[in-house]
Amino acid sequence: MSSLHRPPVEARVYVPAPGEASDVEPMPAGDVTEGVVRVGGTIRRPHQPQSLAVAAYLDWLEDAGFEGSPRFLGRDAEGRDVLTFLAGQCAGPVPEAWVQSEELLASVARLVRRLHTASSGFVPSAHPFPPRFPAGAVSQDPAELVCHLDVTPQNVVVRDGLAVGLVDFDLAGPTTAFKDSFNAASHWAPLRDPADAWAGWEATNPFRRLRIFADAYGWNDAERRALPAFGIEAAALSYERMEHNARVLGGGWARMWDEGVGDMIRRRGAWLEANTGRLLDALSR
Ligand SMILES: Nc1ncnc2c1ncn2[C@@H]1O[C@H](COP(=O)(O)OP(=O)(O)OP(=O)(O)O)[C@@H](O)[C@H]1O
Ligand SMILES: [Mg+2]
Repeated sequence: MSSLHRPPVEARVYVPAPGEASDVEPMPAGDVTEGVVRVGGTIRRPHQPQSLAVAAYLDWLEDAGFEGSPRFLGRDAEGRDVLTFLAGQCAGPVPEAWVQSEELLASVARLVRRLHTASSGFVPSAHPFPPRFPAGAVSQDPAELVCHLDVTPQNVVVRDGLAVGLVDFDLAGPTTAFKDSFNAASHWAPLRDPADAWAGWEATNPFRRLRIFADAYGWNDAERRALPAFGIEAAALSYERMEHNARVLGGGWARMWDEGVGDMIRRRGAWLEANTGRLLDALSR
């Protein structure tokens, strides 16, 4: 849909074309959002407080020529958000062996870089992103650039072994490009205590993988030097926020907390601290 023919996001209604495919397929469940389904060539997701802010961001990305994000088509008769379905494969909850490909890793970094370039200049206006955390309750991020903030293997669409799309913009919002790229790298290296390795990932080398991401995304020297300390701080922040959400929002957040995500974040912080020298070495060699 070109921007000329797009009603404003709050007024956009999705009306299926006559005879359009309507077979329903449940999508693999994530941690928080329930009820994501595919209907024909579309994805239906429950409407959420951030939906219109996300929709405006997706419009911006479309106009910027970014091909790697779904289009917001409007809301259906049940009030659900309707997005285009991006064909390809996403990783399951325990990322499969094919997800370890280093070419895929580099392509993820390049895709995130393209997202950041395309996002530049976007300033939310009619639909600001609702604050994710109440002011004062937890530390806030600097807000320079609207980014995805949840580039996990489950949220990347892969075709022919390369990353071609990003889905699940639920956590998108103002942050910094460094934070978003660090976050993506920490999911894809992954940067975590070996005790928390996904089954089948025990032999992967996170230092080598981090370097591949760094080169493909294009972190400069200052960013590489800042990374370990930044990661340690990000882990502390993430612990604080998860704890807050588990306590205040409950639901999937509380479930993750009960399953020990807080301890895992603490182990990640400690691992980053213990491996600061190796990380700096891998990034600078
Ligand atoms: N637009 C899309 N195109 C193709 N596949 C999609 C799309 N949206 C979602 N999917 C698939 O459905 C899965 C679940 O959807 P999504 O990531 O949006 O929700 P979720 O992970 O359940 O939410 P949350 O991470 O907020 O708990 C994705 O991992 C992906 O496999
Ligand atoms: Mg997801």
